[in-house]
Amino acid sequence: MKSFYIETFGCQMNVHDSEKVIGTLVARGYRQVETPEEAELVLYNTCSIRDKAEQKVFSRLSQFKRSGNGKVFGVLGCVAQQEGERIFEKAPHVGLVCGSASYNRLPELLVQIENGGRKVTGLDLDTDDTFETPLTRRDNPHRAFITIIEGCDKSCAYCVVPYTRGPERSRTSASVMEEARQLALVGYTEVQLLGQNVNSYRDPSPSAWDFATLLARIAEIPGLHRVRFTTSHPRDFGKEIVDAIDANPVLCDQVHLPVQSGSTQVLGRMQRLYTRDEYMRRIEWMKSARRSIAISTDIIVGFPGETEADFEQTLSLLDEVEYDSIFSFKYSPRPNTPALRLVGQVPEEEKGRRLTIVQEKQRAIQIRRNTRVVGSVQEVLVEGYNRATCQWIGRTSQNRVLNFTHSNGDGKSLLGGYLPVRVTRAGPNSLAGESVL
Ligand code: SAH
Ligand code: SF4
Ligand code: F3S
Repeated sequence: MKSFYIETFGCQMNVHDSEKVIGTLVARGYRQVETPEEAELVLYNTCSIRDKAEQKVFSRLSQFKRSGNGKVFGVLGCVAQQEGERIFEKAPHVGLVCGSASYNRLPELLVQIENGGRKVTGLDLDTDDTFETPLTRRDNPHRAFITIIEGCDKSCAYCVVPYTRGPERSRTSASVMEEARQLALVGYTEVQLLGQNVNSYRDPSPSAWDFATLLARIAEIPGLHRVRFTTSHPRDFGKEIVDAIDANPVLCDQVHLPVQSGSTQVLGRMQRLYTRDEYMRRIEWMKSARRSIAISTDIIVGFPGETEADFEQTLSLLDEVEYDSIFSFKYSPRPNTPALRLVGQVPEEEKGRRLTIVQEKQRAIQIRRNTRVVGSVQEVLVEGYNRATCQWIGRTSQNRVLNFTHSNGDGKSLLGGYLPVRVTRAGPNSLAGESVL
């Protein structure tokens, strides 16, 4: 068995985990193929943050119930950890179930499978290690993910992550710095630091750097042009992070700070550990920074007990902050989470109504915000080319997509380069412009 196919669902942590899994497999002589039909080993790296995400893997697996003969199916990631051996009952053709806290054991689990092992599992959560490998196969030639912290020690009432990714574990600063330096040496110019809660990063080695120190040091690495990070938890988000962004333009002027709700009562029931006012204090730090920091967030509508008045607080928060972008979701009841026991579940239809209102409001805010940058010149990292529109696709430091034309192009590829672009038009989700070189 030497060919494998992998499909990844979920967040950037999962995307990056898959890059590490792919590297591990390739180093053992496996070849990655483009379709599950061609593969002998079919892997799904799964997400269980909402019910819809979880259902995707079972619908994939059911497609192969009959035609899966001879293939080994593996379920990785958060559904694997959450459902464990129950997956073998739901889908008997699955041969491997492994959660992210056990990926260090993958080479050993692969040997078991190669030797004909069935129902192979890696489900321990109490590992101290993070999954690091020099074999990582990065998918993007310019922008690289770096995990700095795994797991989560918070206990938001709606969330499965503490159960699926285990307790918080930080990597040593020396190993993070080394990986960032190596990436710069081989030509990466942008790195994105990953963790479920990067703000609680704490270097386990004696130097004991906190997150802001790590950020500042990475931004000094020669060759790196952009450093981003995600996700920030408001409770642990300190002013020193804003100061670090102000002090070094290599740190992108972009922060994702999930609020979830604008109502202090709902935040309390969610066990988010901050009030609306405390959250707004963090927004004020960013708004009064010297640089113009783009702010994005996550919103959940229809959390148990969310009244119309609570919901209106979320709408007023959107107006007050004027986010550059948001991700918004209907509350989805998740196994084992404390919110399951809360009274006042909101009907699906009402959640849908609230979600539409949030999204329409935010769309208007984004058009307004994006229109304000028309006429300005922004530096973009060129990430692609759209043949249909004959436009290059760039990304600004604030993480906006800026599609642009380049007239003195003499046909040369701009991919991976940085150049100044004048913004000429604005839509709700992207900007358009022309290069000024
Ligand atoms: N660690 C990150 C969250 C990762 S999950 C943080 O704390 O910000 C990404 C987002 O999914 C969350 O911010 C939340 O908005 C949403 N989410 C998590 N659990 C959910 C659930 N049960 N129902 C709906 N949305 C959920
Ligand atoms: Fe989930 Fe909360 Fe942890 Fe984020 S901080 S991963 S929402 S428990
Ligand atoms: Fe999903 Fe797990 Fe990420 S539940 S959002 S893949 S941490």
